[in-house]
Amino acid sequence: MPTATAVAHPNIALCKYWGKRDRALNLPATPSLSLTLAPYATRTTVTWGADADEARLNGRIADGKEARRIFANLDLLDPHRPPCVVTSANNFPTAAGLASSSSGFAALVLAANAASGASRTIEELAVLARRGSGSATRSLFGGWAEWPMGARADGADSHGVPLAPADHWDVRMLVAVLQAGPKGTSSTDGMVHTQETSPYYPVWTEQAPADVVEARAAVLRRDIEALGAVMERSAMRMHASMLAADPPLCYWRAGTLAAVDAVKALRASGTGAWYTMDAGPNVKVLCAAADEEAVHAAIAAVSERVERLAPGGPARVE
Ligand code: DP6
Repeated sequence: MPTATAVAHPNIALCKYWGKRDRALNLPATPSLSLTLAPYATRTTVTWGADADEARLNGRIADGKEARRIFANLDLLDPHRPPCVVTSANNFPTAAGLASSSSGFAALVLAANAASGASRTIEELAVLARRGSGSATRSLFGGWAEWPMGARADGADSHGVPLAPADHWDVRMLVAVLQAGPKGTSSTDGMVHTQETSPYYPVWTEQAPADVVEARAAVLRRDIEALGAVMERSAMRMHASMLAADPPLCYWRAGTLAAVDAVKALRASGTGAWYTMDAGPNVKVLCAAADEEAVHAAIAAVSERVERLAPGGPARVE
């Protein structure tokens, strides 16, 4: 049976995607900008043709909802596809706000495309990855990527695009791991709840595009202070929109704010470091490569574990 394996790195958004302008097509209500990060990676093998659909994630058989999401994505590649076997493993904790769905669907789409023998453009693959999980559309690209909202009703122009390759800028992203277990509310549910109940949501979507314009310029001129300022603002405004939901949604734990305070104290003492948080309690800290050790020492003091990440390459078929 035709089989192919693909590897993709997760990405962390510096300007966040939070909200959907079309749920069925998974079109975003905000543009976003991200950094793809190594050595974290998802490795996925797809066998195109089997007795029955089966998905094995990190060694266990995927349950109903998880499996449906995977096979629904393969149905988009080919509605008449044969049953498939998907085997996928992450070298990092799944579903802890560490963007595992971003690398997961990027690797899935790439492996399935290769196994099926189809030839699609990278844009077509990025649209398919978006349908699986929005953030995955950015993980097909290495380094710095953007996901413009797009204008078309069918979503064909809403997909990840490269901004600058991994070697454009020698930065680090350190993750203060505060809780490695699975998160309580999925990003999909969290953003839909925010959209439906938060009075701050319209303001969030209104101001988000300007952040991407500013962040893009900062990345291109390698201005980490400017990028850090936009990055923190985008994260806090996204979290503000969910704090104002009804009932309120808060992914933070006490340790989250302790890590944020540690980053701010470090900056006050002259070391450049900037934070962001996603749909989980962990804090991700951006800094210049030269400041990695200082940042590590500061956040290690307030977290369970610290992961060191650096710009990673594009998703690839092995
Ligand atoms: C906070 O891409 O997981 O990480 O499209 O519903 O699968 P779905 O959502 P997902 O949301 C990511 C949200 C975020 C911000 C970001 O990555 O831009």
